[in-house]
Parts: sequence; C-alpha cells; structure tokens
Amino acid sequence: MEASAETPSFVVALDGPAASGKGTLSRLIAGQYGFAHLDTGTLYRGVAWLILNEGKDPSDQDLAARIAGDYAVEKIAGADIRTREVGAAASVVAANSGVRAALLDFQRRYAKTPPGGLKGAVLDGRDIGTVVCPDADVKFFVTASAEIRAHRRWLELKLEQPDLEEARIYKDLLERDARDAAREDAPMARADDAELLDTTHLSIDAAFAAARRVIDGVFQRCGN
Ligand code: CDP
Repeated sequence: MEASAETPSFVVALDGPAASGKGTLSRLIAGQYGFAHLDTGTLYRGVAWLILNEGKDPSDQDLAARIAGDYAVEKIAGADIRTREVGAAASVVAANSGVRAALLDFQRRYAKTPPGGLKGAVLDGRDIGTVVCPDADVKFFVTASAEIRAHRRWLELKLEQPDLEEARIYKDLLERDARDAAREDAPMARADDAELLDTTHLSIDAAFAAARRVIDGVFQRCGN
C-alpha cells in the first residue's frame, strides 16, 4: 500500500558519526520492511564532489549554496563520492546553512512520500531525528568507538587505495566528527527519543536484530 493521508509513511531515522555502521543497517532495515532508503550523506558528498571537480574551494559559502540549490543526482552519475577527500569536503559544505537549507526539502519529501509508492522510508545521516524528521516513528543513534570505526572505514577504502594508512583514516574521522558535532546549524546529535545502538562489540547481524526488535515493537504498538 502506498503512503497516503490515511496511511502516512513509516519513517525510520538513523544518525551517528562516520563509519558507525548506520549505512549498512539502514539498507538491511529498508530491505526487511520494504521501505525506501536515502543515505543523506550522499547529498553532501555529491555537492562536495561537484565543487572539487570544478577545482573550486568547498569553503566558498556562496558557491556551495548555489551548487546545492541546483543539485540533482544525475550530476554525480559515475562519480566516486566515497573517497576520504570527498568525505572531508562534505563535512565542510555541511556546515554551510545555505547548503543545508537547499537540501532539506528534498529529504523531507522523500520521507513523506517515498519513491515507488513504498509505505515507509529509512533515512540515515547526522540530523535526521533532530531536524529533518523530528516526528520519525523510530529513531536510532548508531555509534562505535573511533578505533573500530576507523578500522572499518580503512578496510573499505583500502580496496581502492591499498596505500592508505589506518592512522590517516582515524585522524580524518576525528576531524570530521568534531566538525559535524560542533557546527551551529543542525549539528550531529542524538535526539532525546533515539535508541542508542553502540556497534563497537556488535556484529552487523546482532545490530540488525536489535534494530528489528525496536521497530517491531513500534509496529505492534501502532497496530501495523
Ligand atoms: O559514510 P560516512 O558516515 O563517512 O559519512 P556520510 O554519511 O557519507 O556523510 C558525509 C558528511 O556529510 C558528514 O561528515 C557530514 O558532514 C555530512 N552530513 C550531514 O551534515 N548531515 C547529514 N544528514 C548527512 C551527512
């Protein structure tokens, strides 16, 4: 059944620091419940990539806001937005209020009316439970120790860049987390009503099982 005025979209919000496992969890949750999934980090990474690709400066506020205002996913087709350079630039453009304002409406519409007529949406990012979808049906704040997160990201990135040092990734993540948590506009934060999911010592299966228990509990309470 499509989300409609009678059956509003069921929204699951996942926030948390870099490489905490929220992306993998979001994809599993979306698959399990037949929901759409929006990795909101790709929007900030996309804007950052477009700026870097033009050889411009991500901290140029007017330029970044203009690029975010014209953003369309087709513009980054085939681009490698997962690199550490793009990640660092993404957290610079993400501190720009003009950029955030330009991307907000799209995210809210996605949550309210998921593509393909699906009956729910999973959004992951930094401010989903606090700013984008404060009324989400279920919220998680996914975290893990910085060492574990850096290790996971290093394993991912070194497939493409075998020379990459884990210590470098660790430093990148700390810098990015600090910038994301300290910015004035929509800082990374755990919403008061978000379930904390610390994946430091959890396998992905165990984290997914824990998330399912929470979501199923909400389903039962609201009679789905
Ligand atoms: O995948 P990873 O956790 O490394 O990061 P990401 O989710 O791809 O996000 C890249 C950057 O975008 C973050 O470091 C944030 O600065 C920014 N971001 C944000 O500000 N708000 C969001 N809802 C999502 C991402």
